[in-house]
Amino acid sequence: MPKTETVILRELLAREGAWVSGAALAARLGISRVAVWQRMERLRAAGFAFEAVRARGYRLAGRPATLHQPLLEALLRVRSRGFWLQVLDEVDSTNDEAARQLAAGRPAPFAVLARRQTRGKGRLGRVWHSESPVSLYASLGFRPEVEPGRMQTFTLWMGVNLCELLANITGVEPGIKWPNDIMFEGRKAGGLLTEARIDADRISDLILGIGLNVNPPPRGWPAELAGRATTLADAGGRPVDLNRLAAALIGRVLLAYEAFREGRHLATFGDLWARFDTLRGRPVALLEGGRRHVGVVRGVDDEGSLLLADARGRIGRFRAGEVTIEKTPPA
Ligand code: BTN
Repeated sequence: MPKTETVILRELLAREGAWVSGAALAARLGISRVAVWQRMERLRAAGFAFEAVRARGYRLAGRPATLHQPLLEALLRVRSRGFWLQVLDEVDSTNDEAARQLAAGRPAPFAVLARRQTRGKGRLGRVWHSESPVSLYASLGFRPEVEPGRMQTFTLWMGVNLCELLANITGVEPGIKWPNDIMFEGRKAGGLLTEARIDADRISDLILGIGLNVNPPPRGWPAELAGRATTLADAGGRPVDLNRLAAALIGRVLLAYEAFREGRHLATFGDLWARFDTLRGRPVALLEGGRRHVGVVRGVDDEGSLLLADARGRIGRFRAGEVTIEKTPPA
């Protein structure tokens, strides 16, 4: 059963710009007009703005800048499938919370989002700066029961899907830096962190964590990120509605997941990767378990490994590592 606030917001969103009468809302919800007014006051306190005119009703005039669970549910198109999602004010890591939900038997897929993380995790054991309530910290939990070898392609596939979505939302073409960095003009706007539990040679629990710098952080960037990070709003030149973005992202990830499970992703993966790949043709150094490999990037294979051509043109395949762009091609 959707919450009362979700139903009210759905009605207002369906007629955005037009008036919705308090009587119609009351009848739709089976509650009194006073009870509707009380809910509207609660929504106002959460950051919504409404115009209210006697004999006309209510009109939506402003939305919260941070994640709001009833609004996100109202915007989500997958609600009919009983999709579960939770917006937390604060959590250690949405990936860890998703892992706890999977371990507790929560039916998948589902999503956990937070306004702030106290122990946000990045790739390779790094910390993910998670203090901005106008950024997105989200994790989706799945039980795919596919072989572990497919996990790398999963992350890359989700990365290019995210890029396509962000291109549509910002109007600017993002790039992906293998394996999981979302970039705009050389600066990082987000990243993906996939974690899995493998049982009897099958991925039983799979968590896709997505961190996106959406609007500029109210307190600015910490010194170590200033100059390296950007936001979707800066890239596109206009503020991004965080709840709309979150709803669109969840919808896109769920569609992409279905394609992945059914193996349909391979039909478009190569083209999408080529469209967003920021490394193709560039000389790079790849650090992998203490070893340094230099070469020119030749894209990725179907398993998501990075293809590197050395100075003699021999192709090496690398499943993991950290890539930095070199100024000159390998000698
Ligand atoms: C990276 O680029 O290193 C990956 C960053 C992934 C960050 C997201 S934020 C939501 C989810 N929860 C986490 O603790 N990490 C991921």
